[in-house]
Amino acid sequence: MAKIESTADQEAKVVFRPMSVDKNIIIGISNHDTYEREHVVRAYERDSELQKPEEVVLTMLKDRLKDMRMLDIGVGAGRTTFLFAPLVKEYIGIDYSHKMIEACKRRFSERADSFRVCDARSMSTLPDDYFDFVLFSFNGIDYVPVTDRKTILMEVARVARAGAQFLFSTHNLNMDIERAFSISWTTNPKENAKQMYRRVLFRLRNRNWRHERANATHMIIDDGALGLLTSYIEPEEQVRQLEGMGFTDVKVFSMQGRQLEPADLAHAKDPWLHYLCGISKTVSTEPGKELRQAHAAYKAGRS
Ligand SMILES: C[S@@+](CC[C@H](N)C(=O)[O-])C[C@H]1O[C@@H](n2cnc3c(N)ncnc32)[C@H](O)[C@@H]1O
Repeated sequence: MAKIESTADQEAKVVFRPMSVDKNIIIGISNHDTYEREHVVRAYERDSELQKPEEVVLTMLKDRLKDMRMLDIGVGAGRTTFLFAPLVKEYIGIDYSHKMIEACKRRFSERADSFRVCDARSMSTLPDDYFDFVLFSFNGIDYVPVTDRKTILMEVARVARAGAQFLFSTHNLNMDIERAFSISWTTNPKENAKQMYRRVLFRLRNRNWRHERANATHMIIDDGALGLLTSYIEPEEQVRQLEGMGFTDVKVFSMQGRQLEPADLAHAKDPWLHYLCGISKTVSTEPGKELRQAHAAYKAGRS
C-alpha cells in the first residue's frame, strides 16, 4: 500500500508491465530497478520518523540495546539509522540498492563504513551467529518473490546469535484493498477523476485479483505505490511460517503499536503489521533445493 505520504504523486504514474508474465517473476527484477531510482531514494530521504511498533520495540529493548550488535536490512535512506545507530554497540545497515547505500554514506558520513550493498537473500559477507538485533523495516521483505521470503528468514537466522530478536513488517492480505481503491466522491472533479483513474489502474493491474485472493494466503499485488509489486500475506500464515521454521515467541503488533492476540489476527485490517520474534538456532539455515534454484534464477535474470 501507500509507502510514505510524499510518494502519493508517484502512485498515479502508469507503469507498463506485460500482463501475461507471472508477477512472481517480474517482482524480482522490477522492484530492484525501482529502488535504484533517484526520485525513489529522495522520497525515502524525506522520512525520518519511527513507526509506532518500532517505537514500542525500541522501548522494550531500551536497556539491552547498548550491548547489542544490530543489523538493519533494507536500510533504505537511513530512516531507522537516525534513532537506532547511536543506541547500539555496533550498527550495520545493508541494502541491495546501490543508490540507497550511497545516500546513507552521504547522510551519515561519520559512520560511512557501517553501510554495505548486500542482498538479504545472500548475506554471505556477514558472519554466522553475530547480530543480537535484526531489523527489516517498512515491509522491505515484501519486495522479493514469495519463495525468497523463506531464504531471507533463513539468512536472518544464520547471521543472528541464538536468543537474538528479529523485527520486520509485512503487508496484510486481510486488509480491505478494494476499499482503499474505492471512490469517495467529492465536489472537486479533478480529485474524482484522480480516484477513478487509480481504481481503474488497480483493476487493470490486478485482473484476477478476486479469484487469486480467494485461493491464496500470500500473494503479489500491484498496488501502484511507487510502481512496486508488493507481497501481501495473511497474518496467521506469516506466524505459521515463522513458527514452522523455528522462530520463537512471535509477537504481532498493529500499526498503532498494540500487541495482537492470536485470536485477533484474522480480523486485523491494518495495511501492514509488525512481527517481533526470537531466533533459536533450530531454524534451518541451509536453503533447500527449490529455494536455491529460485535464487539462481533471480540472479540469472539480473545478469
Ligand atoms: C520500503 S523501503 C524501506 C527503507 C527503509 N528501511 C525505511 O524504513 O525507510 C525497502 C527497502 O528494502 C530494500 N530491499 C528490498 N529487498 C531487498 C533485498 N532483497 N535485500 C536488501 N535490501 C532490500 C530496498 O532497496 C529498500 O531500500
